[in-house]
Amino acid sequence: MPSKMKNSRTPLGIIGGSGLARLDNLKAARKVAVQTPYGRPSAAPLSGTIRGHKTVFLTRHGDGHVFAPHEINYRANLWALRAVKVKDVISIATVGGIRADLGPGTIVVPDQIIDYTWGRASTFSPVGKRVMHIDFTHPYCESMRRRLLAAASAAGEGIVAGGTYAATQGPRLESAAEIDRLERDGSDMVGMTGMPETALARELGLCYAAIAVVVNHAAGRGASARAISHADIEDVSRRAMARVQRILDKVVDIDGR
Ligand code: HPA
Repeated sequence: MPSKMKNSRTPLGIIGGSGLARLDNLKAARKVAVQTPYGRPSAAPLSGTIRGHKTVFLTRHGDGHVFAPHEINYRANLWALRAVKVKDVISIATVGGIRADLGPGTIVVPDQIIDYTWGRASTFSPVGKRVMHIDFTHPYCESMRRRLLAAASAAGEGIVAGGTYAATQGPRLESAAEIDRLERDGSDMVGMTGMPETALARELGLCYAAIAVVVNHAAGRGASARAISHADIEDVSRRAMARVQRILDKVVDIDGR
């Protein structure tokens, strides 16, 4: 039986990406209608419990995966989570592996990010008001990163503890030359949704970290030397997301702060 103590904590927020549109371990889930000054979130957040701990799940691409990375209302998503009292957020996202040891199936907790996106609403700073220059030296919340690493260890799941995430605009995948450039810049993995989500979370004072699931070699690398196979991505993603859910099952037991 879940104790009262468990439920006195603020709910954990989880943003699910491609391959994780719903959480099988979220029980008694109900939709919460949330209004935000930035419009509608990708979907109504689902509020429930994971093994007795309050958890709110939000599907980043919307029900039916209708929003491309550049179309996601990142501001509304994070605002909506905060509106339902979430302070700690775990982002789940798929990536292509650039670094040689980050092959398909590898799970990474990145510690740095480079933003290559453009034209996305990337701040809550209102036009005409004093601008907010948040510190972003260490873009992810360290206590949440440690919590994820501890949860992976408790679940017996191998995980890579760090790496630089390159956030590209998409929705197309990259050219091989673009991946070479990202690597020269110091990127270890590439995805399309890490920004502005990570910075917006910092602006709102949320403790935010990410689980990046490598589902393919980045363009021009390894098995993607000639092309990226979508069939392979789906297969890897399905198996890796089952492991991610095992990690999330443990994360609720670990006190974050
Ligand atoms: N590039 C960008 N985003 C991605 C990739 C990729 O290779 N794989 C999964 N998300």
